[in-house]
Amino acid sequence: MQNTTSSMQDTVALSIDGSHLLERLIELGSIGRNEAGSLTRLAGSDQDKQGRDRLVSWLQDAELTVSVDVVGNIFGTWEADAQRRPLMVGSHIDTVIDAGIYDGCYGVLSGLAAVEALKLLGYVPLRPIVIAAFTNEEGVRYQPDMLGSLAFVGGLDLSTALGAAGTDGTVLGNELIRIGYKGSQALGAVRPAAYLELHIEQGPVLEAEDFSIGAVEVVQGISWQKIVIDGVANHAGTTPISHRHDAGYAAARIVSFLREYAFHAKKPSVATVGTMQFEPGAINIIPAKVTFTVDLRDPDEIRLRDFEFALDRFIQKIAAEEQVTIKAERLARFDPVSFDQTVVSVIEAAAAKREKSCRRMTSGAGHDAQMLARICPAAMIFVPSRNGISHNPLEFTEPEQLIAGANVLLDSMLSLLR
Ligand code: GLV
Ligand code: MN
Ligand code: MN
Repeated sequence: MQNTTSSMQDTVALSIDGSHLLERLIELGSIGRNEAGSLTRLAGSDQDKQGRDRLVSWLQDAELTVSVDVVGNIFGTWEADAQRRPLMVGSHIDTVIDAGIYDGCYGVLSGLAAVEALKLLGYVPLRPIVIAAFTNEEGVRYQPDMLGSLAFVGGLDLSTALGAAGTDGTVLGNELIRIGYKGSQALGAVRPAAYLELHIEQGPVLEAEDFSIGAVEVVQGISWQKIVIDGVANHAGTTPISHRHDAGYAAARIVSFLREYAFHAKKPSVATVGTMQFEPGAINIIPAKVTFTVDLRDPDEIRLRDFEFALDRFIQKIAAEEQVTIKAERLARFDPVSFDQTVVSVIEAAAAKREKSCRRMTSGAGHDAQMLARICPAAMIFVPSRNGISHNPLEFTEPEQLIAGANVLLDSMLSLLR
């Protein structure tokens, strides 16, 4: 730690231990790599267990009280006046498939680094501080995404959360028991006074505009659906085009529609088809069935709804034209979220104190903070992502930028603790 003052009032020079934070990011990022070197720690998996075990050991080393709730959310608490509601700082440590090392882990480990810096200084918190790692933020294996934080704030009942069906046929509750992370703490047993989340931006804005820090005031809305198209399998060589009920062609038209709608509307709306399976899946069989996912996002709720309606109308048109059956199932739906302006201002002030350029911004990605905002004042701190790349092993943020973000988190925590 590089603090040069012994005064606990003057915290200007108090900083987190940057090299220790970077070492831990790399260590956690080494857990869950396959032989080819790619990192995947899906929620509830063996790899997730290994990552959780490492995090828990670090929380214990810092003499925090570790608890796990009934959906597997992990909390490390620096105990203080139990009459006061805690300050919570968190994110997630589950990853997407073939992930980078920063998404989520950076926020959890920086919260821990901030607590360690304060402990080293002899700081005595007037309220508890909780470091949180929420279950299944990514939503790759179980939907909805942000499942752990959603359940924590009371937005998802326990049996639905634990009954979430995995893309691999597993059930989240069973997997949590299997890996030893179905805890006993009741959902929402801790009610934070405020919540902060530090995260990499995962987009290009801060880098392009040369800002060090983003003070996030809005998270855009998210709409996830699973679409199943039933057509008719037939011979690829003998079936005239006019006789086909081709589920694959219908799916392709929907994919094109989504891209063109988002593009021509010149709105911030974005659309992604990230998974698609063909059945029976053979070179010479017209596809009988196609299952795919649709991810729509927009910072504006009305525009997001318009997009959903437009997709729905297009699906009906394609079903009629191609004489196929199309069923859509909602997997996740979250309105855009505005964060607490006071907490956003606290972040801006912390960045200014560190002489870091800062802009207010909207998050394109979903985050646990958007769930916590339902029950307490919350906001997020972003740091730049090189080339705006994330959900990709090339995800990268310069070490100095990571450390600067963690110090802004530390100062924001101190402001909120006061
Ligand atoms: C989570 O990373 C999401 O925004 O999909
Ligand atoms: Mn994340
Ligand atoms: Mn992510």
